[in-house]
Amino acid sequence: MRFHIALVGFGNVARRFARLLDESRDALQALDIDPVIVGIATRRHGAVFNAAGLGTSALNECLRLADAGHAVGPAFSEPAAGELIRQLGKLDSEARVMIETTTLNVQSGEPAISHVRAAFAAGAHVITANKGPVALAYRALADEAARRGLSFLFEGAVMDGIPVFNLVRETMPATTIHGFRGVINSTTNHILCALERGEDYNAALKRMQDEGIAEADPSLDVDGWDAAAKVAAMANVWLDANITPRDVVREGLTPQCQSRAVAARTSGRRLKLVGAASRRGTTLAATVGLEELPGDDPLATLDDQANAIEIHSTPLGRIVITQRDGGMEKTAYALLTDLVTMRRRL
Ligand SMILES: NC(=O)c1ccc[n+]([C@@H]2O[C@H](COP(=O)([O-])OP(=O)(O)OC[C@H]3O[C@@H](n4cnc5c(N)ncnc54)[C@H](OP(=O)(O)O)[C@@H]3O)[C@@H](O)[C@H]2O)c1
Repeated sequence: MRFHIALVGFGNVARRFARLLDESRDALQALDIDPVIVGIATRRHGAVFNAAGLGTSALNECLRLADAGHAVGPAFSEPAAGELIRQLGKLDSEARVMIETTTLNVQSGEPAISHVRAAFAAGAHVITANKGPVALAYRALADEAARRGLSFLFEGAVMDGIPVFNLVRETMPATTIHGFRGVINSTTNHILCALERGEDYNAALKRMQDEGIAEADPSLDVDGWDAAAKVAAMANVWLDANITPRDVVREGLTPQCQSRAVAARTSGRRLKLVGAASRRGTTLAATVGLEELPGDDPLATLDDQANAIEIHSTPLGRIVITQRDGGMEKTAYALLTDLVTMRRRL
């Protein structure tokens, strides 16, 4: 089955995804997935569209230009994303897919939420690694997708490529989730581990920026906003919460955390930034905060970029899923698995 794909956002994740599609061509073919990238839209780095598909050489040229910080093409007359989605909607296609990887805006969820709505209106399925839509508008968007018979998938929004949403949706039928807790932000976990070793706060943060792990605005990581967005996303999907990141009681990291991190480590404990939510009846609690965890807590064993989520459910009890190796390659993989989920549904 041919999937006509529009990439809205062409940063670290989308570029890795474009390369992964090419590297995974044989595996995808075996699953009857023929991905055709028809266009790219960015904010300040131009846009391209070809209804017949960009083709390998044009796509490689876009990757080369974007890697070098150049525009991939001329600016569209309209805002690029809107125009590209309109063009996608005009294609005679079995499956139109908009892949949304624009910058996170944790306050408004925009422009991602508008891009998702425009895609649905154009008859396109949506895959996103952006937490904004699921953290700020999950219920409305999921309802709209269901009404239109379209998929709204977002595996990459939490824990990169580790299948957390897929795990619950596909393998845990007839369970009730009461809550979850986790270390869910790689940048802050890396910084806390560096502080324990006596290293410098700003140097540790810069490493995460250089690797493309930190958000474009790193205060989103260190102030706990990214973790709050993930808590809101999981609470919305698993606890029927209908909250936004602003509803999450939030604490972040400062260089002054160093003495606390060192003292905890010396006494066999670990200082971790923990995101959690739980539901008791109609009461929902959602938090992001620093906690000194006993050494045998599964969240205490996480070093550097490792993440983990402990899900509390009936009848399965506590389930811990750990991501030892993070990174944008894994997020790109999440986009690919969402494509496979979509194929299975279609
Ligand atoms: N990096 C990771 O490991 C990771 C992991 C999980 C989730 N995520 C999420 O994935 C998303 C992408 O991350 P990234 O690291 O790829 O970000 P990035 O490198 O900063 O790229 C963002 C892209 O979005 C484009 N963009 C921004 N506003 C736009 C608009 N209004 N219309 C069209 N394009 C727009 C930017 O274009 P310009 O360059 O022209 O501004 C750029 O191409 C983010 O939401 C992030 O939170 C990332």
